This record gives sequence, structure tokens and C-alpha cells, in this order.
Amino acid sequence: IAPTDVQVGTVADFPEGEIRPATLPDGTVVAIYNVDGTLYGTADLCSHGEASLSEEGILTGTTVECPWHFGTFDVTDGRATGMPCTVPLKTYTVKIANGNVYVESR
Ligand code: FES
Repeated sequence: IAPTDVQVGTVADFPEGEIRPATLPDGTVVAIYNVDGTLYGTADLCSHGEASLSEEGILTGTTVECPWHFGTFDVTDGRATGMPCTVPLKTYTVKIANGNVYVESR
């Protein structure tokens, strides 16, 4: 854990198979995905429109589907994997230490 890492909760706040929002000190909202116990982070807003992926996204495996126009992204690397989404999502490294969850801030 680096001094710049931001604690965003405990592991209990991020249940398996679910998406939760976390707000960084600068106001940026990160969508955090729990895929089989591994946490991944991406920008919360869909790159196609203004949909909040943590509020409205549907997580299936490592794919999040945006319900607005059914575009998809791979949450492990932010890649756009389904039209109409073509612009990748910014990704964030999420770390777990001593039961706490941290987002690497850059
Ligand atoms: Fe997400 Fe259009 S806003 S697919």
C-alpha cells in the first residue's frame, strides 16, 4: 500500500459479482467490480454516454454491460468489447490489505 493509495472501504463493502461506486478525494467516481473475489476498477461513467456503470451496469464474468445502449467493456483492462462503445474506460488498480480496499490514485 502506497501513501497515495486511497482507502475506499472494507472487503465487505464490495460483494462478489457486484459493482459498487467509490469516490476519490478529487471527486472522481470509480466503479469497483468483484469478479470471483478479485477487485477491478474503471471509470464509473460509460465512455459512450453518461450512464453510471456502478449504478446501472450489469456484471457478467469480467464483462460489464451498459444498459443504456447495451455496449460492453472488459473490466480487467477497460477495453470496449461491444458496440456502440469504442472508447476504452480508464482503469484503476484496486488493492486489498488487512481487509481494507484501496484504489491507487495517479
Ligand atoms: Fe453506455 Fe450508450 S451510454 S452504451
